Amino acid sequence: MMAAMAQQDCGQCGYNCNDYSDAIAGKSEARLNLCVPGGKETARMLKTLYEELDKTSAAASSSPAVVPAVAVSTTISEPGRSRDNPVEATFVSRRLLNKKGSEKETWHIDFDLSISGLDYVVGDSFGIFARNDLGLVDQIIALLGAQHTIKVRGKTLREVLTDDVSLSPAPDSLFELISYLTGGAQREKARALAQGEDPDGDTATLDVMAVLQKFSNVRPHPEAFVEALEPLQPRLYSISSSHNATPGKLSLTVDCVRYVIGKRKRLGLASTFLAERINPGDRLQVYVQKAHGFALPADPKTPIIMIGPGTGVAPFRAFLLDRRATGATGKNWLFFGHQRSDCDFFYADELNAMKTSGLLTRLSLAWSRDGAKKFYVQDRMREVGREVWTWLADGAHVYICGDAKRMAKDVERALVDIVAQFGARSTDEAISFVGELKRKGRFQQDVY
Ligand SMILES: Cc1cc2nc3c(=O)[nH]c(=O)nc-3n(C[C@H](O)[C@H](O)[C@H](O)COP(=O)(O)OP(=O)(O)OC[C@H]3O[C@@H](n4cnc5c(N)ncnc54)[C@H](O)[C@@H]3O)c2cc1C
Ligand SMILES: NC(=O)c1ccc[n+]([C@@H]2O[C@H](COP(=O)([O-])OP(=O)(O)OC[C@H]3O[C@@H](n4cnc5c(N)ncnc54)[C@H](OP(=O)(O)O)[C@@H]3O)[C@@H](O)[C@H]2O)c1
Repeated sequence: MMAAMAQQDCGQCGYNCNDYSDAIAGKSEARLNLCVPGGKETARMLKTLYEELDKTSAAASSSPAVVPAVAVSTTISEPGRSRDNPVEATFVSRRLLNKKGSEKETWHIDFDLSISGLDYVVGDSFGIFARNDLGLVDQIIALLGAQHTIKVRGKTLREVLTDDVSLSPAPDSLFELISYLTGGAQREKARALAQGEDPDGDTATLDVMAVLQKFSNVRPHPEAFVEALEPLQPRLYSISSSHNATPGKLSLTVDCVRYVIGKRKRLGLASTFLAERINPGDRLQVYVQKAHGFALPADPKTPIIMIGPGTGVAPFRAFLLDRRATGATGKNWLFFGHQRSDCDFFYADELNAMKTSGLLTRLSLAWSRDGAKKFYVQDRMREVGREVWTWLADGAHVYICGDAKRMAKDVERALVDIVAQFGARSTDEAISFVGELKRKGRFQQDVY
């Protein structure tokens, strides 16, 4: 089961990958669709394995040699400490971090936690429950040919579609429902889609509304339609503030997801909710997701090297604010990078002030689109590899935050090369050295 998951230990499902697998196997978790980076492929594979598990345990029930799956306790967590038990927070404000000319739309978001008294430590993430865009909801209701006031699950259809269900991407169960309601080639197509096939080469673009448009002669009943949709999942964001510095306040650094498919603009659910659909004073459901293995060193004198391009800078702003608030004396080195120096240098004033005050010992910057050739944080790290090695030899902890798919791997590769070159080791020895840093908790990642 774990092999079917994305294995980023990103925490979006509310577990580590290993614990999520154990919880499913131990039958304390029935939801097989929680692995967000794994998407539908993971959900499908977990369903298959889950069914096999049932068969296996039935066949093996007479065999004493089979060890039963470990049952995971299902204790209700403290309020505000898990996705299953959220609390209310107040949205305070948003501020655009990019300047004119940027291709990005990144927001600094502030919340007030005083309703719940929730606290956190730097390195933790914040889970938020967003609401769907009303424009999208109303278009879907129109495609269903339904009244928005019709009651479903004790609420109006409009409320359910706004607050309770995911409208992207379309789940297999929606294709299944459509296959029952139509016939001929359409039915075959819907069946194929329900089984993960891609008969028209457009599966990746099919959100719930696109499915209703694709099968425009099928009008499911609102109740059956809602039943076929997945519940709306929360989204996690790295906390970019410190509770020690600003008790009761919490901030995030959010990159807004917007893209166009065909002629239709698509909106990332939570990022655009924070960017435009929630107003100062509004309340929302939230929780703090405790970091596992992503925290400041216990010894405040330990030097730290933080590598966080783009929104990856978020937890490092928090680390720096925390070290200042607690008077930690360890040296701090930040590698930050983004597309363009003149419009994408988030928190420039703050970071420059931290450098002037001496809190930030070193600030190394890399702008990928300022020059003719791409230049990334790991290119800057290689340039100053000797100093990076000296910090490592002095016991520095290293942190990476941001994109999991390429950046984190490339940065780790650069670190291995630096250890090999300046630590006078073979590549294999350098790989073991970095592996050892990880085992000792001196190399930590928060990637998504
Ligand atoms: C531990 C953790 C920490 C995180 N911290 C941060 C953070 O500090 N800041 C931050 O901004 N994000 C962070 N994220 C990511 C965040 O949780 C969300 O995944 C992100 O904001 C997108 O969510 P959304 O609801 O806006 O978009 P969704 O509705 O989830 O849509 C995103 C999906 O849209 C699709 N998509 C996106 N772009 C395109 C495109 N061009 N073409 C086609 N399809 C596309 C992809 O399928 C993508 O998965 C973090 C994630 C984790 C797990
Ligand atoms: N799926 C993906 O492939 C992918 C990639 C990046 C980000 N994201 C997502 O986009 C959202 C937020 O993005 P963000 O604001 O953090 O910015 P970002 O899009 O991650 O970009 C930040 C900076 O990192 C650079 N970068 C790109 N590839 C890199 C690599 N291999 N190594 C080092 N640096 C690299 C970018 O350069 P250029 O853009 O100029 O190349 C940019 O200067 C997150 O949700 C993240 O997961 C997804």
